[in-house]
Amino acid sequence: MLWQVRALLSDRPGAMAALASRCGERGANILALDVHPAADGEVVDELVIHTPESWTAPDVEQLCTDAGVFASAVTECSAHALEDQPVRYLRAAQCVVREPERLEDLLCRMLDAEPAVAGSAAVLVLDDEAGPPVALGREHAFTATETARAAELRLVAAAVLAGPGADQVAGAPAHGVGQLRRGTVVDIRPLVEMHDRCSADTLSRRYHSPMRRLSPRMARAMLLPAHGFSFVLPDEDGDGVVAMGMVAFQDDEVEAALLVEDRWQRRGHGADLLRALAAEAKAMGAEELTLIARRDDTAVLATVHRAGFRAHVRCVDGVNRLRVPLGRVSSARKQADRKPADRPVRRRMTEPLVALLHQRKELREVYAPADIIDQAVRDGV
Ligand SMILES: CC(C)(COP(=O)(O)OP(=O)(O)OC[C@H]1O[C@@H](n2cnc3c(N)ncnc32)[C@H](O)[C@@H]1OP(=O)(O)O)[C@@H](O)C(=O)NCCC(=O)NCCS
Repeated sequence: MLWQVRALLSDRPGAMAALASRCGERGANILALDVHPAADGEVVDELVIHTPESWTAPDVEQLCTDAGVFASAVTECSAHALEDQPVRYLRAAQCVVREPERLEDLLCRMLDAEPAVAGSAAVLVLDDEAGPPVALGREHAFTATETARAAELRLVAAAVLAGPGADQVAGAPAHGVGQLRRGTVVDIRPLVEMHDRCSADTLSRRYHSPMRRLSPRMARAMLLPAHGFSFVLPDEDGDGVVAMGMVAFQDDEVEAALLVEDRWQRRGHGADLLRALAAEAKAMGAEELTLIARRDDTAVLATVHRAGFRAHVRCVDGVNRLRVPLGRVSSARKQADRKPADRPVRRRMTEPLVALLHQRKELREVYAPADIIDQAVRDGV
């Protein structure tokens, strides 16, 4: 008999060994294992176990309990369950390329879930602008690994739905943009209109609180700060603005802030803006810029890197303060001008992983969150 077992274990050395040795003692053979790190000192192991024919699901559950497993879900399965996970997900990616509109069905099959309903015990919801909406439900919680896999397949669907030649983001605009230039009073109305087009999430990441409509007065203060300057990225026609960045010289620091309209994000404009702000601020005597980002926001640090800089990151009062030294603007430019293929490979994190990374040091070598960079900078790497 083959059984698919989902076991919640203590995340400590030897916990899995105890289960394996209990299986061995009872004549059960572990044929596949997929480990999903979880928060709070626990780990979810998905196993495929082969047992003698006479075994029932309660027998397998008992074996797990005897081995110290906190909770287990056991279902009888076929040899299909032995398929290698990477191969399974590569096949799934091919299905998404063929039929992107069936993404949710496919994820239900991959993750043993149903479309989410009001009573679903656990839900996985992906509904930002990155791709088609997904809402899955099932009995047991979705792990960060599963969420990351679903999010990646969703990006494949978004890219296919956006059509040939389109960027990764669904709904990518067809026309282009103008040249970055200093912000002036003529940009007040376009900036207010750009705010109106930004999503609540983008505005909350910029202002760290819900943002009502930008008044012309505030727009003016942002475009022409008393001690600072701004840059705007006009649209192709020059009538509208699609991104803006500002620098404000304060008593003890020089603060920079960026805002790129949703449908223009992830096209390099944020990094271009930051480089322009940095070069101008440096020419005015600044030695470093400070950017303030929500604790769960990985995009700002990625933008700093893409612009060719490094950041010292500190979490203060629940927000990340990124201090960006401006010592090497010219080499930053060199770095930024490298072809994308030359850039060091860094993985993009899906949101649940961010929280997990703060608890799981070993994963930080794979994904690059704020704290590692912080540590690397402290260590002088
Ligand atoms: C942060 C922000 C300015 C980045 O602008 P952008 O034009 O998307 O940035 P870029 O296209 O230059 O991308 C820079 C890097 O950030 C990454 N990135 C951008 N958006 C991301 C997101 N939502 N999640 C994860 N990474 C993201 C890109 O993949 C890229 O990394 P890569 O070079 O490793 O591929 C934009 O997301 C934004 O306006 N956010 C809301 C306001 C805000 O947070 N401002 C910063 C606080 S002041």
